[in-house]
Amino acid sequence: MSDNDQTTNRSIEESRLIGGNSMNDDQQIELSLRPQYLREYIGQRKVKDNLNIFVKAAKARSESLDHVLLNGPPGLGKTTLAAIISREMGSKLKVTAGPVIEKAGDLAALLTNLEAGDVLFIDEIHRLHPAIEEILYPAMEDYELDLVIGQGPSARSVKLELPRFTLIGATTRPGLITAPLRGRFGINFHLDFYPVEDLQIIVERSATILGAQMEESGAKAIALRSRGTPRIANRLLRRVRDFAEVEFDGVITAAVATDALNRMEVDRFGLDEVDRKMLTTIIEKFGGGPVGVSTISASISEEKEAIEEIYEPYLIQIGFLNRTPRGRVVTAAAYHHLGFDLPNQAATRQNDLFQ
Ligand SMILES: Nc1ncnc2c1ncn2[C@@H]1O[C@H](COP(=O)(O)OP(=O)(O)OP(=O)(O)O)[C@@H](O)[C@H]1O
Ligand SMILES: [Mg+2]
Repeated sequence: MSDNDQTTNRSIEESRLIGGNSMNDDQQIELSLRPQYLREYIGQRKVKDNLNIFVKAAKARSESLDHVLLNGPPGLGKTTLAAIISREMGSKLKVTAGPVIEKAGDLAALLTNLEAGDVLFIDEIHRLHPAIEEILYPAMEDYELDLVIGQGPSARSVKLELPRFTLIGATTRPGLITAPLRGRFGINFHLDFYPVEDLQIIVERSATILGAQMEESGAKAIALRSRGTPRIANRLLRRVRDFAEVEFDGVITAAVATDALNRMEVDRFGLDEVDRKMLTTIIEKFGGGPVGVSTISASISEEKEAIEEIYEPYLIQIGFLNRTPRGRVVTAAAYHHLGFDLPNQAATRQNDLFQ
């Protein structure tokens, strides 16, 4: 995927109320809502428990933490967790992203500027150029940098020693990480969509930080429509608060939240217009599937990558879409939710007509 595609992806995402990626105007608030320490990080019990042990063990041995790979859909807390890890380790954090590292020299500069114990966070690590990825291998494994100086017959390679550092990689597309790179991460965490109970706690915590007045049932109503995603929960909270303040007395009750979310066309399952358009198109144009993702992409004018990265994972998670070798298939649950008859039910009905 080119940088252009990615830019398009981001802008589609930014125009989407329940998108998992950040919106520029909300970034500042998002920062203030970001948990700073592991104990403030809600949910993801298994990840937290294990991480706690690995951090304690590394600190007790005065070693740097092993390299960590974080994978999971957008907005589930990968960047947040990377910052927490470095804070818990008492390390300095340097942040970069796969697409930003264009030349081998860019990565070499980053690596040679690290000090012992530093954490280097590479976001979207699946988008690293293969040639650059290869520089990472010896850096991660042996803390060595192999540089080729000069060109042609006079070229020679030099080895530079690097300090012990921790690489944290984040990706929304673990399938695109090459096996040699994946194998060099000693710690590999997958973040799952959050259950409603955890999202409710996140919404309550954020409301307290924002100084919003909210009833427990209001937090639950928001949590229920947040697509299992903390970033979306926080964003919906901010919008619902706007409704509560402008049209009601400022208190976010279940009724206020539900009314606001309905008016923003976020439905009972947290689906928005794009999700519904995608499912409806597969049902109406392709008999419910199987249909390839490129065909879906062309039919609904959304980037293939955006479908795979943003829309589809949640629809699969809630059982509205299946991924089969022959393409995507809409499930009976989705037919029901969108008010369509199942294809075989429709057939039965037609038969009834002629009996
Ligand atoms: N476990 C959590 N507890 C509380 N808040 C959370 C948690 N995880 C994420 N958040 C909130 O959700 C927001 C988004 O999280 P974050 O930016 O870390 O997601 P991400 O996985 O890096 O997303 P992307 O893939 O788009 O980069 C954070 O600003 C934070 O406020
Ligand atoms: Mg992130």
